[in-house]
Amino acid sequence: MKNILVTGAAGFIGSAFARYMVKKYPHYNIIVYDKLTYAGNLNNLSEIDDEGNYRFERGDIAARDVVRGILQKYDIDTIVNFAAESHVDRSILNPDAFIHTDVVGVYILLDEGRKHGIERFLQVSTDEVYGDVETGYSTEDDRFLPNSPYAASKAGGELMVRAYHVTHGMNTVITRGSNTFGPYQYPEKLLPLFITEAIDNRPLPLYGDGMQVRDWLYVDDHVTGIDVALHHGVAGEAYNIAGENEQHNIDVIKAMLKLLGKPETLIKHVPDREGHDRRYAMNCDKLRALGWQRQYDFPQALALTVQWYQDNEWWWREIKTGEYLEYFKRQYADRLAAADQDQPNNH
Ligand code: NAD
Ligand code: DAU
Repeated sequence: MKNILVTGAAGFIGSAFARYMVKKYPHYNIIVYDKLTYAGNLNNLSEIDDEGNYRFERGDIAARDVVRGILQKYDIDTIVNFAAESHVDRSILNPDAFIHTDVVGVYILLDEGRKHGIERFLQVSTDEVYGDVETGYSTEDDRFLPNSPYAASKAGGELMVRAYHVTHGMNTVITRGSNTFGPYQYPEKLLPLFITEAIDNRPLPLYGDGMQVRDWLYVDDHVTGIDVALHHGVAGEAYNIAGENEQHNIDVIKAMLKLLGKPETLIKHVPDREGHDRRYAMNCDKLRALGWQRQYDFPQALALTVQWYQDNEWWWREIKTGEYLEYFKRQYADRLAAADQDQPNNH
C-alpha cells in the first residue's frame, strides 16, 4: 500500500479519514478525489493543505475516463471509497443522484480499479443496509432489508463490490458504520442541524415521537475502524463499526441542549420521515477481533462536538446559505407549519 485514492474525502467522515491518514502514515500518498457536491467542502481539508503526502483532485467517481486518468497519474494501488449521496431525507425527495453515485459510481470505481490492477478496495457502507432492527443486533451475515432509497443504493453498491470480489478475485473489504457525529458534519444531519439551529434559538424539528433509536459513533472512532479494516480485514469480508451506544433521538437532543444551555422548549415534534426506521443496532465483535477499540465515550464526544460548532461558526454559517436554505424550506417549512397548527403549544 503506497498510493491511496480516497474518494469523497471532502465530506464529513472522508475528510476526517484523510486528515488522520496523512499524519499517521507519512510514507503513504493520500490522493483525495471528490466531486465537491453540496456536501463537499475544501475547508474540511485545509488542515492538511501543506502536507507533502496529500493531493486533491476534483472529479466524479462515475466519470470513467477521469477515474482512469487519476489511477494512472498517481499509480494508485488502493482505493477507499467514501463518495456517496448520504442523506436519507434527500433520497426521499430525489433519489436520482443516489443511484448515480452510490450504485453506478461504485461500479465504475471497481471496474476501472480492476483494470488498473488495484491491490485493495475498501467500500465505506452503513448499518442502514440491514434495515429496521426491532430487537437484537445485526451481524455481518444478516440479510439486507434497506428501507430508504439511500439505504437501497448503498446496498446496491455493496453487492457490486461483492460481485467483483467473487467474479474477478478483487481484494475488497466493506465497512458498515453506525450513526456518526463530530466536527465538520454537514448541518443537514440531526446533530449538526440541531446544534446550529439551537445556537440561533430556532425550533428543532424532531420527527414523530423522537423515540427512534440510533447507535452513535464518534467520527474519530469510525476512522480508526476503517483504518483497521483496511490494513487487517480479510478479502471479501464486511465489518460492522458500531458505537455500541444506543440512544433515543429525543435523549440525544436533550443532552445537546443541556450542553448548550438552551431550553427544551426549542424541540418541536413534526410529521415523521416517510419509511422511518425505528432502530439500528449492530454487533461489532468481528472488527474488535482485528484489534479495533473505540477511544471515546458518548458524553465526552458529544461535549467535544457541541464545543466545536460553538467555536467554528465561520464553518457552518458559510454553508447555511443559498442551496442549503432552499433545501431547508423544502424539507421543513410544511412540517413546521403543520406542527404549529396541530399543537399550538408544541414543544
Ligand atoms: P458526506 O455527505 O458528508 O460526504 C460525501 C462526499 O462525497 C462529499 O464530499 C461529496 O462531494 C462527495 N461525492 C458525492 N458524490 C460524488 C461523486 N459522484 N463523485 C465524487 N465525490 C462525490 O458523507 P459522510 O457522512 O461523510 O459519509 C461518507 C460515507 O460514509 C458515505 O459513503 C456514507 O454512506 C457512509 N456512512 C456515513 C455515516 C454517517 O453517519 N454520516 C454512517 C455510516 C456510513
Ligand atoms: O446509520 C448510519 C447512517 O446515519 C448513515 O448511513 C447516513 O449517511 C447518515 O445520514 C445517518 O442516517 P440517519 O437517517 O440515521 O441520520 P439523520 O441525522 O438524518 O437522522 C438521525 C435520526 O434523527 C433519525 O432517526 C431521523 C431523526 N431526525 C433527523 C433530522 C435530520 C429528526 O428527527 N429530525 C431531523 O430534522
